[in-house]
Amino acid sequence: MRRYTLPAIVLHWLIAIAIIGTFTLGLVMTDIPGITPTKLRYYNWHKWAGVTVLLLATLRLLWRLANHPPQYADEMPAWQRGAAHGLHWLLYILMFAVPLSGYFYSLAAGFPIVYFGLFELPSLMGPDPALKPVLLGVHYWLNMLLAALVGLHVLAAFKHLLIDRDGVMQRMLPISTPKENP
Ligand code: HEM
Repeated sequence: MRRYTLPAIVLHWLIAIAIIGTFTLGLVMTDIPGITPTKLRYYNWHKWAGVTVLLLATLRLLWRLANHPPQYADEMPAWQRGAAHGLHWLLYILMFAVPLSGYFYSLAAGFPIVYFGLFELPSLMGPDPALKPVLLGVHYWLNMLLAALVGLHVLAAFKHLLIDRDGVMQRMLPISTPKENP
């Protein structure tokens, strides 16, 4: 049966939930006017969730470097395999680039990150007023790119599920269904 192993499936869905949640919180918190206790609390949650994405992405990359993903069905066109492969590697890069850009932006703004209020992460740079707006722009646009690519990824997954009905979606689901590849 050509499907991902349980650790790969669990990491995929944990990261998907964490990324979508962190992204949504980022939009909500920056929309709150002024400085309020709720806004500050959301900023902390956003940072902690971003660090969690980074930790999970590290585990996932280690898994990926040690394991081959399951083979596609022989009938899948070569361009589709190439496109899926390229998009997956772009997503891996952004899983790191997006939280790292947020981490450096926070440091440039003069706010070290204390993970869950318990562990202070190493501050790899000090406050930098000149770099701060640049890093904010980088963080914002990397997020927009990630959102666009995740949108494409989800559309492709649903096209496989509903139109092609070729079992590609089932490769990443923890349950067996009759539509799986052999
Ligand atoms: C509702 C949201 C999502 C759905 C329905 C979905 C669905 C899938 C499916 C069906 C696969 C297997 C594709 C294949 O075998 O070619 C897959 C793989 C993958 N997904 Fe998602 N996904 C979602 C969200 C995300 C998010 C948010 C990310 C991270 C940014 C992500 C990153 C990846 C990566 C990197 C792979 C390739 C794994 C590998 O082979 O190394 N996915 N996804």
